[in-house]
Amino acid sequence: MIKPLTRHSSRRDFLTGVGALAGVSLLPLAGCAKSDKVRVGFMLPYTGTYAQLGIAIENGFRLALAGQGGKLGGREVEYFKVDDESNPAKATDNANKIITRDKVDVVVGTVHSGVAMGLIKVARETGSLVLIPNAGANAATGELCSPNVFRTSFSNWQPTHPLGKVMVGNGHKKAVFITWKYAAGEEALASFAEGYRAAGGSIVKELFVPFPNVEFQALLTEIAALQPDAVACFFAGGGAVKFVKDYAAAGLKQKIPLYGSGFLTEGVLDAQGEAAEGVMTTLHYADSLDNARNAAFRSAYRDAYGTDADVYAVQGYDTGLLLIQALEKTGGDITDREAVIAAMEGAVIDSPRGQWTMSKAHNPVQDFYLRRVENGDNKVIGVAWSALEDPARGCSM
Ligand code: BEZ
Repeated sequence: MIKPLTRHSSRRDFLTGVGALAGVSLLPLAGCAKSDKVRVGFMLPYTGTYAQLGIAIENGFRLALAGQGGKLGGREVEYFKVDDESNPAKATDNANKIITRDKVDVVVGTVHSGVAMGLIKVARETGSLVLIPNAGANAATGELCSPNVFRTSFSNWQPTHPLGKVMVGNGHKKAVFITWKYAAGEEALASFAEGYRAAGGSIVKELFVPFPNVEFQALLTEIAALQPDAVACFFAGGGAVKFVKDYAAAGLKQKIPLYGSGFLTEGVLDAQGEAAEGVMTTLHYADSLDNARNAAFRSAYRDAYGTDADVYAVQGYDTGLLLIQALEKTGGDITDREAVIAAMEGAVIDSPRGQWTMSKAHNPVQDFYLRRVENGDNKVIGVAWSALEDPARGCSM
């Protein structure tokens, strides 16, 4: 009888209790010979608003492994893919497909917070190793934290936590927050509100659009009428392009400064063009970060894919670096779950975003940068918050 992980499951429960599950190749019982290939499953969006994000993550991951001759711990790698369409309703089925049908050793997934919740549910039931290369759902490394789930990106609490202080520092004490109505937007807003109020700001209105809707016109008219000091927001991918362009076209850009978590201007600056100039954001990466690792990464990424890297590519790359480090330590044995987990918990990632470490709840402890769009580039203004650690509320690992 399999003992599913519960909210209160401990690391010991995980290491001893889920091991009898059939069909999950992380398990010691199903251990594979060293000559076998490591089975890596991408559960990512390849269609829809977040398609570019999924592609960049896969590209970044493959680039990290290319530095090892395409191998992990000296073993060949076989890839499996599921397009999760950023659709939470299909998340459990898609997770089961890649974990149970394809029997992957490790899942790299996903982008959308709602989809991540379905994936985590299956990960907790099966004990599968899951590396989250984007989705910020706080619960993943909060109340649903689990020994077999690691995140290499951020929690939704992190990117907007420093933003309120920045805005009040710039004299903007009355703000409107606008976002998609789903976990990523709602959690970004909650974290923004904490920081903004603590710094002396007040939110005059919270505005929502259903995901992935991009009909902003009525809400932009409302913002114009409210006349806040500034607007803060969470949008990403195709929706971020449309929002920034619509904001400028509505004549708001010159009157009410626009701020956001940095996803607003990541990987989309070419499409946003002039409309994005001057937008200020906080994020754990910026193209122009001045470190040797970033320069080498950006140049290798451009050579490999003919396009520029963004934060999503970095997160995919770092997911590869994390697995590389872990499997180097285990000599390529991904079935030694205790050793794999210990190696990941102790990992120090020398990333293009700057060095980061893994928190006890398995989320990056990392710097957040203040950026401003200048001449089509996310220019770094400074470090908005150094070594920011998610509070991991409700995690009892
Ligand atoms: C999320 O759903 O967690 C998310 C999606 C895109 C960018 C950032 C966060």
